[in-house]
Amino acid sequence: MSERIPQEILDEILSRTDIVELISSYIPLKRAGRNFKALCPFHQEKTPSFMVSPQRQIYHCFGCGIGGNAFNFLMQYERLEFMEAVEFLAKKTGVKLPEKQKIDPKVVSLTTQLYKINELASIYYQQCLNSQEGNSAYNYLLRRQLKKETIKLFKLGYALDKWDSLINYLRSKGVSLSILDKAGLILPKEGGGYYDRFRNRIIFPIFDIKSRAIGFGARILEGGENKEKALPKYTNSPETAIYTKGKHLYGLNFAKDNIREADFAVMVEGYLDFIIPYQEGLGNIVASLGTALTEEQIRLLKRYTNNVVMVYDSDKAGQLATLRTLDLFIEEAMNVKVVSLPEGFDPDSYVRKFGIDKFKEKISEAENLFDYKLRILKSRYNTREIEAKAQIVEEMLPTINRFKNAILKSSYLKRLSEELNVSEEALLLELKKIKAYPPYFGTEEPSKKLTLNINATEKLLIKLMLEEKELINQIRENLEPADFQDERVAKIVSVMFELINQGKSIEPPSLINYLEDNEAMEIICELAFIEAPSEDKEKIVLDCIQRIKKERLRLKRQQLHEEIKHAQYLGDESRVKQLLEEFHHLTKKGR
Ligand code: CTP
Ligand code: MN
Repeated sequence: MSERIPQEILDEILSRTDIVELISSYIPLKRAGRNFKALCPFHQEKTPSFMVSPQRQIYHCFGCGIGGNAFNFLMQYERLEFMEAVEFLAKKTGVKLPEKQKIDPKVVSLTTQLYKINELASIYYQQCLNSQEGNSAYNYLLRRQLKKETIKLFKLGYALDKWDSLINYLRSKGVSLSILDKAGLILPKEGGGYYDRFRNRIIFPIFDIKSRAIGFGARILEGGENKEKALPKYTNSPETAIYTKGKHLYGLNFAKDNIREADFAVMVEGYLDFIIPYQEGLGNIVASLGTALTEEQIRLLKRYTNNVVMVYDSDKAGQLATLRTLDLFIEEAMNVKVVSLPEGFDPDSYVRKFGIDKFKEKISEAENLFDYKLRILKSRYNTREIEAKAQIVEEMLPTINRFKNAILKSSYLKRLSEELNVSEEALLLELKKIKAYPPYFGTEEPSKKLTLNINATEKLLIKLMLEEKELINQIRENLEPADFQDERVAKIVSVMFELINQGKSIEPPSLINYLEDNEAMEIICELAFIEAPSEDKEKIVLDCIQRIKKERLRLKRQQLHEEIKHAQYLGDESRVKQLLEEFHHLTKKGR
């Protein structure tokens, strides 16, 4: 909301308004020490717990938790929209509102900066691809049958074979190293300084649904594999404030309308497995980018369709891990079908060899999950052996169990019993046993939001930030907003840091204009009314910082632990190894 009217004007209106006068024109207020109190107009009560502070110019109800500044009171009491409340008070106080409300250019959040930097980097990489030095990269793409328009459409680029070309370019544009670091585009050198993360690679920008570049994938050029040191084929951006792995689907920004129209999506794994079929005329396609599919990716897709066809290379298709991941779709009540390509082909090479029509034909012949999974399992185990049957049942039942629809569940059970020649009763008995199934994704955020009560340490720290501006620097040097477990607190902290950076006031009434979140606002109002500790605040702050850091580490380890269990369950050895390394690294750091 604050984006539409400059903060200075909102502050001006607030400074000319007396909240006590405003509220007492609606309900009777009684003096109570430094504050005023009343029966809360927003919930039923017999003893007053609604407080108004003339110093702070805010109100808060200790009974129902509601609170805010003068704008919020009008919005809640008179049921006005934010703009209406602003107009009302502007008129009353004689403040002139700008005709065309401009966005306050000075309020540039970290995320906005990261989008901007990624865009600059993307443009630079594109320029490099089109330069002399990008010649061999460009030819490589042409050899892989990408058309010129395709290269443009997907904004493919090239990172030069140098250690600092991107750094130098963006530094010359006034971009700071610290923000380049936050964007994941550079890496620190051992002896100090930085170097470019991506060098001598084809660059694939990864777009979000609004077609903003949020990260990059980078492929080695052919022949690059032969250098002394084996380099990975792809390297990707690390997670940043705007890029979380497993939360996006490559190409969805291009494909979403087609997916909605066709009412199904084809899902592949790799960048080129997306690009080539898309170029050849398959519009309803997305790519998961290699890693195991996540719940979030499925939910993202579910906004556009309930139907998905997974296309796998033959080796991947038969793996238990792949089969197990597919259960996620059932959990989200989606219809999933599967196609596996002939030995040695992926969607990119299949389309290049046989053409898009053959590929589409394959897709139309996709098998539903139950049939597909059962067929693979039957070919893997010898169904004449009882143990093998038990194995197959063990793999199939969790899948069947995930169907919420009882009719589907019972007909699949029936089919399974027929196919394996096992009694339905036995299957039902086994089905009952699998309640304690491994949780699907341990990768979810630690239980933020679950507790309505904020952790006391975080609360105290916010309180101290509001009271003791001198201590804020210490907090800023030691913690990042993401270190706070409570989502609302994290939001408050990030807004406070941002405002302080811009030399702006973090007094509650103007601070809450920036918090586009009612709960965060209520937290601020409540804190404004409670007493701050009076002694040794510096020590308390240090204490809080230590505790928050420790808690962060503990949660991170717990989350990793869950992820390891999940990867073990999926039989994803390399992932397990990688996670274990991460785990040990963290443990070392914690000591
Ligand atoms: N991937 C990755 N990092 C790797 C290997 C793979 O991020 N070291 C991701 C990439 O998104 C890649 C996808 O997993 O596109 C599938 O990997 P793979 O099948 O090995 O590569 P292809 O997509 O076939 O790559 P290409 O056709 O360019 O050889
Ligand atoms: Mn490929």
